Amino acid sequence: MSKAISPEEYRLFSDFLEDACGIVLGENKHYLVTSRLQRLMDELNIPSLSELVKRMGSAGGKSLQVRIIDAMTTNETLWFRDSHPFDILRNDIFPELSRERSRPLKIWSAACSSGQEPYTMSMVAQEYGMANPGKLARGVEILATDISKTVLEQARAATYDNMSLARGMSEERKLRYFRDLGNRQWELRKEIRERVRFTELNLMQSYLSLGKFDIIFCRNVLIYFSADLKRDIIGRLARALNPRGYLFLGSSESLAGHSDMFDMIRSGGAVYYRLKG
Ligand SMILES: C[S@@+](CC[C@H](N)C(=O)[O-])C[C@H]1O[C@@H](n2cnc3c(N)ncnc32)[C@H](O)[C@@H]1O
Repeated sequence: MSKAISPEEYRLFSDFLEDACGIVLGENKHYLVTSRLQRLMDELNIPSLSELVKRMGSAGGKSLQVRIIDAMTTNETLWFRDSHPFDILRNDIFPELSRERSRPLKIWSAACSSGQEPYTMSMVAQEYGMANPGKLARGVEILATDISKTVLEQARAATYDNMSLARGMSEERKLRYFRDLGNRQWELRKEIRERVRFTELNLMQSYLSLGKFDIIFCRNVLIYFSADLKRDIIGRLARALNPRGYLFLGSSESLAGHSDMFDMIRSGGAVYYRLKG
C-alpha cells in the first residue's frame, strides 16, 4: 500500500468488515489490514485503502467485497484439531446417538475452512462404523459451511499437500484415506468425501434453510466477533439443534455469559455443550 492508512479510512474499512462478516478488527490492526490486502490491491492496481473503500461501494463492488472478505478471514485449521472433540464423538456421542435411530445423524461444521474439520469427523464416523458394525446404520451426513469461496473450493477439491497433511494426520490414516497423486499431493478417498457436503454460508445470515442438526461444531470463529453477535449466533445455533443436540466451540472459546440454553459437559480436559430440554 503506497500510502499510510488514515484514521478515517481505517474506520470505514473496519465498519465494512464488521457489517459484512462480523469480524471486529479493533484498534491498531493497520498492519494486519495492510499485509492481508496488499496482494489484492497490487493486482487490481488500487493505490490506497480509501480508493478500495470507494470501489467497494461502486457498481461492480460486490465481487471486490467478496475478495476482501476472503483476504481478511483467518483460515487456520488442521486435522484432528485439539483431538478431544473427536474422541468425544467416537467414545460418547456416536454410541449414544446411534441407539434406535430411524434417520441419519446430522452434523454441521459451521466454519469449516479448507475441509480438515468435517473430513476429520467423517474419518471418525468411518472408524466408528467399522468398529461397531450395525451402529450408525442410517449413516452420518455432514454439512460444512464457510463464508470464504476460496477455502470452500479447496475443501471440495479434497486434495492436500504433504505440508497440510503433516498438521495432524497420522501416517497410518494418510495411507488409508488418501491416494498419492505424486508431486506431494494427496487426494482424499471417496468413502470419506461422500459424507460431506459443502455450501457457502455467512454465519450472520439465517440458518433456517439448513434444517436441524444433532451436533454442531462452530470452532475458532466466534473469537473474531463482537459479544452481541456471538450471543445472537449462539441463540440461532441452539435453534438449529435437535432437542438435546450437542455444540462444540474452539478450545479457547466458551459459552460463559452467553447462553443458559445449554448444559456444559466436561470430558477429558475438554468442554462441550448439550441443548437443555
Ligand atoms: C480459524 S478458521 C476455523 C476452522 C475450523 N473450524 C477449525 O477450528 O479448525 C475460521 C473460519 O471461519 C470462517 N469465517 C469467518 N467469518 C465467517 C462468517 N461470518 N461466516 C462464516 N464463516 C466465517 C473463515 O473463512 C475461516 O475459514
